[in-house]
Amino acid sequence: MFMVENMKFEVWLQKVKGLCQPDNVVVCSGTPEEYDQMWDLLISSGAAKRLNEKKRPNSYLVRSDPNDVARVENRTFICSRKKSDAGPNNNWMSPHDMKMKLSNLFDGCMQGRTMYVIPFSMGPIGSEIAHIGVQITDSPYVVASMHIMTRVGKAVSDQLGDGDFVPCIHSVGQPLKKGEADVPWPCNPDQLYVAHFPEERQILSFGSGYGGNALLGKKCFALRIASSMAREGGWLAEHMLILKITNPEGIVRYIAGAFPSACGKTNLAMLIPTIPNWKVETVGDDICWMKFGKDGRLYAINPEAGFFGVAPGTSMQSNANAMLSLGKNCIFTNVAETDDGDIWWEGMTEEPPEHLIDWRGEHWTPNSGRAAAHPNARFTVSAIQCPVIAKEWEDRAGVPISAILFGGRRATVVPIVNEANTWNQGVFFGSIVSSEKTAAAAGTIGELRRDPMAMLPFCGYNMADYWQHWINLGKESNAQLPSVYYVNWFRKDDNGKFLWPGFGENSRILKWIFERCEGNAEITETPIGNLPMIEGIDFSGLELSDAEIDQLLRVETDGWLAEIPMIEAYYKTYLDRLPAELSEELDKLKNRLETAKQATA
Ligand code: OXD
Ligand code: MN
Repeated sequence: MFMVENMKFEVWLQKVKGLCQPDNVVVCSGTPEEYDQMWDLLISSGAAKRLNEKKRPNSYLVRSDPNDVARVENRTFICSRKKSDAGPNNNWMSPHDMKMKLSNLFDGCMQGRTMYVIPFSMGPIGSEIAHIGVQITDSPYVVASMHIMTRVGKAVSDQLGDGDFVPCIHSVGQPLKKGEADVPWPCNPDQLYVAHFPEERQILSFGSGYGGNALLGKKCFALRIASSMAREGGWLAEHMLILKITNPEGIVRYIAGAFPSACGKTNLAMLIPTIPNWKVETVGDDICWMKFGKDGRLYAINPEAGFFGVAPGTSMQSNANAMLSLGKNCIFTNVAETDDGDIWWEGMTEEPPEHLIDWRGEHWTPNSGRAAAHPNARFTVSAIQCPVIAKEWEDRAGVPISAILFGGRRATVVPIVNEANTWNQGVFFGSIVSSEKTAAAAGTIGELRRDPMAMLPFCGYNMADYWQHWINLGKESNAQLPSVYYVNWFRKDDNGKFLWPGFGENSRILKWIFERCEGNAEITETPIGNLPMIEGIDFSGLELSDAEIDQLLRVETDGWLAEIPMIEAYYKTYLDRLPAELSEELDKLKNRLETAKQATA
């Protein structure tokens, strides 16, 4: 059997084994044989099906329990010693109470099952920016998914040596009594807990086998625990894509971008530019770890090794590079199955097939009146299958970040792009990222959901302390920080029609940002930040009227003034932990807007 020689590992493993009482223990070697064994198990349990080998070689369709289909935020906890350290942005339980609760639940929870132990690296093995974790799980689906989403195997345990790792324990929470038959997708949604212990750097997850609840390297480690490690270590663990842009002269820049879930992050990461001779390549689509290099610049890695993307809505039109990544060696979870043993989801083709087996395993036709794929159905695929993966995506040194984008879904007020004048203003932009949950009535702002830095569900500590950490990075003496941009692709006109013509056209905004980084584009200073000169953005070939361009780039003084009290109220929820620098930014914004309003009165 594969061995890991590490003292902490040995002691921990014996303890967890004693608690969970599995029938067997397997330390995962990360080999293709091991991957295939997991699928043999998943197929024989009825959870998975091998897809048509001619259409989708070496790929599997998995159907989860209908009660276990997504991350469950109200069962996700940050168990810091003090409640105030978790902040109003997190559910909290004391470490003691959570451990009492979970040690009861974990007691004997793997009876009748195999316990898999997966040493994994988040980030290229041996990178100074990477970190190692070990996940214990009783789910073969998790083992197979971790093979794709992280680096697993001997190279990881060699790198670990006797060093430290983040221990992650996961159980689907459904032990099997002697002779009891298993269900295809065991889970225990009534007892679901995803618990993080930032001070001890430990993760305990019970009751779910799905996505971010169960693949603990992703949101749990790479964001919640890593954000807290990053605060201590003076770096950043962010919910950001990383892209590489090459201009027609062959100059390269790397940009990171934070967008809330369901704002098209994977699509932006794999964008096909509509402007000639510009190239966009992917370094990462969801998570970005950045540490300072000796030159004071922030160097980024994608800690993941694969994409766990939302399938519905992905098509050759919306994301051709994602579709082209999915030709083979994939896992599809909760998508629909076609009559020829392939997969389908809403939005994949203009016309749906005439007959499908839906994500619950039932017959489906276009007249069924329900979705064939679950809205949170996922594809899991190795990053190397992406046709536009950047050659440096696994560079141990990371890639130097020139610009950071923040963006939400704003139908009103927020212009298409706005550059921060200073780092602190950039942090302010990040802190007020929001999406409109409801349509705005004419002339008003729809109900806002704030999602600062797109980290609301993922920041492992008090959000106000996290903002302070961002501010503090700006005070590092030799820091050469990226410039920060607030972007909004989702601006609508007064009739509710999107103003910006399409996702590929975002390359025009990326081009402007690139040119700013090169010192080749002018700005106009405005009360809200630096906006492009109209002639600075390449609108050629777009059917946009002057009025529409004006609306995309306008400073909506009244709209922003109306938003100030909302930001004030939002900031108040963080009480005295709010960084003084952010209240200053808000005051300055208010003053500049009032002065502008008076000047035009
Ligand atoms: C994700 C998310 O699944 O952000 O990436 O919710
Ligand atoms: Mn995400």
